[in-house]
Amino acid sequence: MQTKKYLITSALPYANGPIHFGHLVGAYLSADVYNRHRRLQGHKCLFICGSDEHGVAIMLNAKKAGVDYQEYVNGWHKEHGEVFKKYGVDFDFFGQTSADYHAEETIRWFKNLHEKGLIGTQDSQQLYCNDCNNHLPDRFVEGICYVCDYQHARGDECPQCGEFIEPAKLKEPVCKICGSQNIKEVSVTQYYLLLSKFHKEFREWFEAKKDSWRKTVWPYVDSLTKEGLHDRAITRDLDWGIDVPLPNTEGKKLYVWFDAPIGYVSNTKKYLEDTNSSEHYLKDWWQNEDVELSHFIGKDNIIFHTIIFPSMSMASGFAKAADNVPANQFLNLEGEQFSKSRGHYVDAIEAIDEFGQDALRYYLLSILPETTDSSFSWEQFQAKVNNELANNIGNFLNRCLKFTQKNWKEGLPAEAFKGFSTSEMAADISEALKEINLHLDQQNFRKSIERVMALGNKANNYFSDQAPWALIKEDKDKAAQVLAYSSAYALCLGVAFRPFLPQLSGKILEHFEKITSDEWLARLYLGEVAVLDQIFEKGHTLENEVKALVPKIQDETIKAKKEELQKLETN
Ligand code: MF3
Ligand code: ZN
Repeated sequence: MQTKKYLITSALPYANGPIHFGHLVGAYLSADVYNRHRRLQGHKCLFICGSDEHGVAIMLNAKKAGVDYQEYVNGWHKEHGEVFKKYGVDFDFFGQTSADYHAEETIRWFKNLHEKGLIGTQDSQQLYCNDCNNHLPDRFVEGICYVCDYQHARGDECPQCGEFIEPAKLKEPVCKICGSQNIKEVSVTQYYLLLSKFHKEFREWFEAKKDSWRKTVWPYVDSLTKEGLHDRAITRDLDWGIDVPLPNTEGKKLYVWFDAPIGYVSNTKKYLEDTNSSEHYLKDWWQNEDVELSHFIGKDNIIFHTIIFPSMSMASGFAKAADNVPANQFLNLEGEQFSKSRGHYVDAIEAIDEFGQDALRYYLLSILPETTDSSFSWEQFQAKVNNELANNIGNFLNRCLKFTQKNWKEGLPAEAFKGFSTSEMAADISEALKEINLHLDQQNFRKSIERVMALGNKANNYFSDQAPWALIKEDKDKAAQVLAYSSAYALCLGVAFRPFLPQLSGKILEHFEKITSDEWLARLYLGEVAVLDQIFEKGHTLENEVKALVPKIQDETIKAKKEELQKLETN
C-alpha cells in the first residue's frame, strides 16, 4: 500500500467553558478515530487542534470572573487539554490562538489578502456605550430583535429566530459590559473580506465536492453560495485580539473568526518547529496537493470551514482548501439541548473518572450524530455498555483468555493454530477488517463501529457454540484448537478496536506480545490474516495476568446519575 499524508483538524474549542459530550461527538472523537485509523494503515498524519481564545464572548466571561483575558483563557486551555487526554483524543499539537506565533501567521494572511485586493474597508453604523466608553460589537450589546421581538437578541445574531443582526437596528439596546442604556450610534470604518470577488473560484472548487461530501453539508452550502458570496466584516473595535496590521487602525482587532481557522496552520508550524522537524508547514503540508485535508467540526461551524476559510486559503495561496468537511449534527442530553446555565449538563471529566474511557468512547461513538441529531441518555448508555460491550465482547475476551491461562499454562501449542489463517473463519474476519477500513476511509464512523461489534458477536457465539469447557474433558487437542482459534480471533478484535477504543485494544494486545511489530499490526489491520501464521508460529502463551476487560454498569449508578441531573436542573 502506498503511504499518503493526512492532515486532520478538529474545530478549535473556545477557551470559554467546559467541554461537554456535544463537543466531543461533534468535532473530536471521530477525528481521533480517523487519525488513529490512517496511522494504523501506515500513513503519515498530523492531527492539529488548539484553543480559540479571542472574541467578545470570552471577554465578557473573563470580565465577569474578574480575571484578565490571558489568565482566563489559559485556565480553560489547560482544562480542555486534560479532558481530551482523558478521552484519548490524541492531538499531535494543541496550541493557543493568543500566542505570538499565531498572531504572526495571521498577520501574514491578512497582509497577503489585503495586497491582493481581497480585503477592503466599508463604513457601518455601530453602537457605542456613553457610560463605559466601549464600542459594542457582537455580544457586547443586547436588545429586542427587530424581526421576531425576542427580548435578548445579541449584536451579532438573534438566538430565537437566527437572524444575522445589524446592531444599530436593535430596539432598546443595553450595554452588556456595564448595563447602561445610554448608547449612541456611531459610524465606524471596518475591514471586510471581499468574498463577493471570489465567487467564481469558490464555486469551481466547491462544485467538485458534490459527490464526496456528506448530504448534510454539500446541499446546504450549495444553496447558500449559488447566487454569490457575502463580504464579511473581519475587524472589531476591541482591546483583546490580534492588532490589525495596517497604519491608522488603532484600537482595531481582527475578528475572532478571521484568526481562529488560521490556528490550524500556525499550530502546525509551531508543532514542526518544536519537534525539530525537517518538514515545512506549508510546502510539506498545507500547500501540498498530495495531502488529504479534513476538517472535523459540528454543524454550527459549516460556513466558516466550507466557505470562508477555504476561500481565504485559495486566495492567499497559503493553504489548500479542504478535501472533506465531515460536519456532525448536534447531540442532545436526554432529548434536550445541553445547557450549562440551565444545569442540563454532564461534567465530562466527572463522567470519565467514573466510567472510564472505553465505556464512554464506545457509547458516544455509537450515537455519533452523523446524519441527524442524536441524544445521550444514561439508560441507553448503561444498556449499550452492558449488553454490547460487556456481555458480548468483554464476555468473550474474558472467557477466552482466562480459560487459556487456566488450562494451558505452558501455552497453546503451534499445532493448535494450524489451518486457522486459511479457515473460513479467518476469511470472514479478513472481510470484516476490510469493510471496517473502507467505512473509515469514507469517514462513516457509526457503520464502522457497528461492523466491529458484529465481529465481536460472532466471536462470542463461536466460543459458546464450541463449549470448550465441555470439550476439554473429552478431547484436549480439539479444545486446544478452539482456544487457539478463539485467541486469534481475540487478537483480531483487539486490532479492529484499535482506532475506536485504544485502551481496550491495548489491554487485549498486551496479551499478544508478538504483535509488537508495527508492520504485522498494520498488515493485520488491513485484513491480511496470513500474518497470523507468523505471529502464532511457535504457539501462544499468556504471560500477563488476565483481568476483567469491560466492567458492567450497575443500576444504582445510573439512577444516581439521573437524579444528579434532575437536581442540577431544579437548582
Ligand atoms: N471556537 C469555535 C467553536 O467552538 C470553532 C472554531 S474552529 C476554527 O464553535 F476553525 F475557527 F478554529
Ligand atoms: Zn457600557
